[in-house]
Amino acid sequence: TAQARLRNFSIIAHIDHGKSTLADRMLQATGVVAPRDMRAQYLDRMDIERERGITIKSQAVRMPWSVTGADGTTTSYALNMIDTPGHVDFSYEVSRSLAACEGAVLLVDAAQGVQAQTLANLYMAIEGDLTIIPVLNKIDLPAADPERYAAEIASIIGCDPQEVLRVSGKTGQGVPELLDRIVEAVPAPSGDPQGAARAMIFDSVYDTYRGVVTYVRVVDGALNARERIEMLSTGAVHDLLEIGVISPEPVPTTGLAAGEVGYLITGVKDVRQSRVGDTVTAAAAPAAEPLSGYQDPKPMVFSGLFPVDGSDFPALRDALDKLKLNDAALTYEPETSVALGFGFRCGYLGLLHLEIIRERLEREFNLDIISTAPSVVYEVTLEDKSVHTVTNPSEFPSGKVLDVREPVVRATILTPSDYVGTVMELCQSRRGTMQGMDYLSESRVEMHYTLPLAEIVFDFFDALKSRTRGYASLDYEPDGEQSADLVKVDILLNGEKVDAFSAIVHRDSSYSYGVMMTKRLKELIPRQQFEVPVQAAIGSRVIARETIRALRKDMLAKCYGGDISRKRKLLEKQKEGKKRMKAIGRVDVPQEAFIAALGAD
Ligand code: GTP
Repeated sequence: TAQARLRNFSIIAHIDHGKSTLADRMLQATGVVAPRDMRAQYLDRMDIERERGITIKSQAVRMPWSVTGADGTTTSYALNMIDTPGHVDFSYEVSRSLAACEGAVLLVDAAQGVQAQTLANLYMAIEGDLTIIPVLNKIDLPAADPERYAAEIASIIGCDPQEVLRVSGKTGQGVPELLDRIVEAVPAPSGDPQGAARAMIFDSVYDTYRGVVTYVRVVDGALNARERIEMLSTGAVHDLLEIGVISPEPVPTTGLAAGEVGYLITGVKDVRQSRVGDTVTAAAAPAAEPLSGYQDPKPMVFSGLFPVDGSDFPALRDALDKLKLNDAALTYEPETSVALGFGFRCGYLGLLHLEIIRERLEREFNLDIISTAPSVVYEVTLEDKSVHTVTNPSEFPSGKVLDVREPVVRATILTPSDYVGTVMELCQSRRGTMQGMDYLSESRVEMHYTLPLAEIVFDFFDALKSRTRGYASLDYEPDGEQSADLVKVDILLNGEKVDAFSAIVHRDSSYSYGVMMTKRLKELIPRQQFEVPVQAAIGSRVIARETIRALRKDMLAKCYGGDISRKRKLLEKQKEGKKRMKAIGRVDVPQEAFIAALGAD
């Protein structure tokens, strides 16, 4: 049957171990991309999206591959390669891509060996019951040590080191053998071709011209062109405008059968109407039960986004609306700040997600924006037993606090054994609790820690890298909440709270936060006509103080006796300056000072 000649697989790898480059070689080896059309990172469509203004984030490519058996007969197969992102923020995307596959190519750099994300992805693939094909990449590198790392991989997944394939994504060496192995080792899809149609949505992207393009893996039955489809979670029915496969451009087909991977277009305009994890069925003969879905991604990190120019607020709202069309994990709601004006409180999967959104707002929408310090989600219980969810430190409830809970993560750190002590020190200083340690080999260690999310979202990764000279790698996943001695530190200017600078920190670091912020603001805020105290306080207790001394001379004084037009010019200039001033009580602060204080590290 056709189903027996399908193979669905992903490539999983630590970042920079060469996933995109290997994918390029596969496209070439299978003839899907002609040599003259080949360009590096063929499947990374973001660039093309910008050039052509269309969105076809190609998440699944179909490639033909023929294998000649021992008896000399040739059988042709269709291989679907499903892409997975590499960064920890997006590991939920990895899990949903893997759910659409029967096999995974575990790609490891032959000069670096297994890294933290290699393991994280491997565990996910094993949990999903996928067949693992271990592969060492970059064997052309002089520094490659395939013998050593084949043994390492073999001991982790429990296979013979001889079974670890060796390839070079650069030269293409070993790629045909890898494709043969995929056909041989990965099982064909096992759904019921005769059953009611059920297809799993594993990605959904918004395209300006075509509306939402939905990527599906058909599990049972078939979806046919021109029929009506139903989203099982909502019962919403849509016309199927187009159905097809990506190879590597979208190619319309008459339908998708059980086991096949492809795309469909219904004309809906919002990815939320075509939700990742939902089951698509045929409206005429709907399936009774949905496929088991994915967990909804939950925002983990929040920060305020404000336009530098207040009149850009509507433009910022439009831009966020547009980004949301393509990013179900992004959340936002309006927020007002005394210091920064009107903006939005946004929720992200992690810091990388935050940076991507910021960068897209700046580059694609030409917006100049400020973001406030990122915060995690706290759960505050007051003495009256009321429970408050706090995503914005300035909204920390007043009243006597009984308990504050913060999110924690389970972190896996892979490091050369020489750095074990250094890593332990770092984790200790970030309130980490060691959960265990495994030696992958004599020289490499896998360390497990429970750490507060708030302690790793900011600069933990940078600190880890610099202390281990770049050799340690990190992966983490949410692991519930814990109670902690957390306090809210307010920053006061002349006795008035500056909302954008409130922070929730551990009591032990509250003092250093207070000292740092008051010093910074003292330097950035220009002198006023009067003396201005800058204070850090927990509740009503001041923990740090700096003073901005008063100006000695009236600026206009030097104009007395001068000509009137000069004086007017000076006043004019002052007024212009005033426009960008924010008044905190009686203190006028240039917005730039706030931006600088938020930006500096
Ligand atoms: P992300 O897409 O950023 O997750 O990385 P990736 O895993 O896709 O890695 P990518 O294909 O971008 O390759 C990372 C770097 O390794 C690039 O500079 C490649 O040119 C290089 N590279 C990839 N494969 C090979 C190889 O087989 N040999 C050598 N020498 N370099 C390679």
